[in-house]
Amino acid sequence: MPEYKSKSYSHIIKIVLILIIVAVAGVYVRAKVLPGSFGEFGHYRGDAVKDEINRPLRNGTNASCLVCHPYIREMHLKGVHHTVSCEFCHGPVADHVKDGKVIARLPKKQGRDIKILCLRCHNQIIRARPKESIKMISMPQHLKEKHVRTDHICNQCHNVHAPLMWVKQARAMVGVEEDSK
Ligand code: HEC
Ligand code: HEC
Ligand code: HEC
Ligand code: HEC
Repeated sequence: MPEYKSKSYSHIIKIVLILIIVAVAGVYVRAKVLPGSFGEFGHYRGDAVKDEINRPLRNGTNASCLVCHPYIREMHLKGVHHTVSCEFCHGPVADHVKDGKVIARLPKKQGRDIKILCLRCHNQIIRARPKESIKMISMPQHLKEKHVRTDHICNQCHNVHAPLMWVKQARAMVGVEEDSK
């Protein structure tokens, strides 16, 4: 078979030209599109750090609530829920207070919604939660054990802000000592 060798290189030149155009266009578009602060600290927009810092705070600590709610403060700090965040159950302070003034009401769960709220932390079904750090119950067994109707909701026996307060008071009233379990 006779060896055939083309003397025409025009197709190769076309490809090289196209590649050069694509590369130049790429460099141009990249320069146009990339934000100025890109790469300042790493492979991201440097100004993103400033944006995050300047984002208005939405959440506060429990101290930010307790100044205005002395009645709840009394119960909450003495009760077993003193480590639990007010905002977990009521939402962020920013939706309620601005510059020291009340601007809107925070949601306050009622009825069956309270049960759902409590069980987000106390449901035995959540296997990953260490039993030593948080007491878990399963429903409706819990209510059966307490010999009540299973349509009872948690805050009929547990003060939501100090869950054992009423239980202890009831015990003291009928003269039952701690832990009759
Ligand atoms: C600047 C004072 C102030 C701060 C800070 C404050 N509150 Fe209040 N809060 C009030 C006042 C006043 C009311 C009563 C408003 C009303 O009844 O319209 C109220 C009402 C409430 C209510 C009841 C709403 C209702 O529908 O009955 C809840 C729940 C509540 N606050 C939770 C919180 C939580 C949680 C925080 C912290 C994240 C907080 N508050 C911080 C002043 C404050
Ligand atoms: C475990 C969830 C939970 C936590 C934590 C919690 N609350 Fe509540 N709170 C509720 C529920 C549910 C209600 C409404 C039902 C009730 O009072 O029994 C309520 C009611 C209130 C009310 C209205 C009281 C009234 O008499 O109408 C205020 C004010 C309030 N909470 C403030 C706070 C503050 C301040 C904190 C933090 C110190 C806090 N709560 C922590 C669940 C919670
Ligand atoms: C954000 C998580 C969270 C939510 C929501 C929550 N709890 Fe708790 N609860 C805790 C923690 C943490 C403790 C302290 C550790 C413990 O004793 O289990 C506690 C303790 C308790 C205890 C005392 C357990 C014991 O014998 O020591 C009771 C009862 C209780 N909670 C009831 C409730 C009820 C009722 C609700 C709903 C109003 C509720 N909890 C919502 C986290 C939560
Ligand atoms: C009929 C009253 C009643 C109702 C309703 C009730 N509980 Fe209880 N609960 C109790 C009593 C009483 C105890 C025992 C407290 C003790 O031993 O100190 C208890 C203990 C607990 C404990 C601690 C369990 C442990 O292992 O020590 C948790 C958590 C709890 N309840 C959560 C809830 C939740 C969440 C709800 C709603 C879904 C609820 N309870 C409804 C009466 C009630």
